Amino acid sequence: MNVLVTGGAGYIGSHTCLELLNTGHSVTVFDNLSNSSEESLRRVADLAQKEIVFVKGDILDNEALEQVFAQTQFDSVIHFASLKAVGESVSKPLEYYHNNLTGTVNLCYAMQNAGVKNLVFSSSATVYGLPKSLPLTEASPTMIHEVTNPYGRTKLMLEFVLRDWQTANPNFNVALLRYFNPVGAHESGQIGEDPNGIPNNLLPYVSQVAVGKLDQLGVFGGDYETPDGTGVRDYIHVVDLAAGHVLALNKLATNCGVVTYNLGTGNGYSVLEIVKAFGEASGKPIPYKVVDRRPGDIAACYADPALAKSELGWEAKRGLKEMCVDGWRWQSQNPNGFNA
Ligand code: NAD
Ligand code: UFG
Repeated sequence: MNVLVTGGAGYIGSHTCLELLNTGHSVTVFDNLSNSSEESLRRVADLAQKEIVFVKGDILDNEALEQVFAQTQFDSVIHFASLKAVGESVSKPLEYYHNNLTGTVNLCYAMQNAGVKNLVFSSSATVYGLPKSLPLTEASPTMIHEVTNPYGRTKLMLEFVLRDWQTANPNFNVALLRYFNPVGAHESGQIGEDPNGIPNNLLPYVSQVAVGKLDQLGVFGGDYETPDGTGVRDYIHVVDLAAGHVLALNKLATNCGVVTYNLGTGNGYSVLEIVKAFGEASGKPIPYKVVDRRPGDIAACYADPALAKSELGWEAKRGLKEMCVDGWRWQSQNPNGFNA
């Protein structure tokens, strides 16, 4: 298939591009590089020993979108391009609504005009807000007023936008993929997550402590109703997540309409379990201190991934150890990310 990947130079996008190339697809990436570097794509092409087309462009720029669709007849689009920092979305809500909502609507127009009818969308477990019960299934309630930040609201709003779009165009197909917590890196150590500034997410923070860039981890809350009092999440290896996108494309090719899948492992790990596992993987114990809870955080969140298994034939293969070992390989070989 000819696949357009928006945001393909980013963390999940670059791993998905590699998976696409390795499974015989042709890939064009459309990315404004606002949170990534073209170096990730050079490395993807090297790893796959295949070409990748890169177009520097912004999903807010309708002309640039039209041009990219005019150049190639795509079969499908995988749409990663998005701003994604939870804290920043609270202080810059308009940027988030504009970039994520307007950008996605622009993309849908461009697809419609070009007759491209298959879309995979990066959604998030954040759409479930405060879970009523665990594990979360795709039928678990999503409540806009319980989503705790503007970034998360853009994801839930866009799920509705894309459903409405498909209802009006019944020959279109949309896969809403709700990611749990993507971590780790490709086993080569060549591509991985390269956050700007001080990381907000747990694994990048822990890796930077292990590599000596940060002194110690602040554990946000030790009094949650979880086995050890720290937050529990469903961490998923980014290469498993990437594979889910390729299978979602195959599903769309069956004219399935709108489908929604949790992409998680079904296992929850606490912050302290992550600290221990990463310490073992890196051979460097992670100093930490329990501090106040982070506003907006929930105690626990993990998936029931059964639907993705039965309908996509997808299942996470890599466990916590591989997530940490591969994440550490990337971090230790590239202490300054792609700017080394
Ligand atoms: P990322 O920031 O590494 O990748 C996003 C890419 O989109 C970047 O390369 C950025 O330059 C690009 N981009 C942003 N705005 C753009 C625009 N207006 N035009 C063109 N390109 C633009 O993030 P990621 O972690 O790879 O996330 C990919 C997708 O998955 C995002 O939609 C994100 O919201 C979603 N997601 C991520 C997580 C996570 O924890 N990483 C969890 C759930 C969902
Ligand atoms: N944590 C710490 N210290 C830190 C960072 C995180 O203790 O320095 C804890 C958090 O309190 C939480 C756990 O580690 O218990 C995971 O936190 P992350 O920030 O890594 O991930 P979140 O679950 O908060 O959110 C992430 C993404 C969201 C996405 C969500 C579900 O940031 O965008 O996963 O996919 F919506």
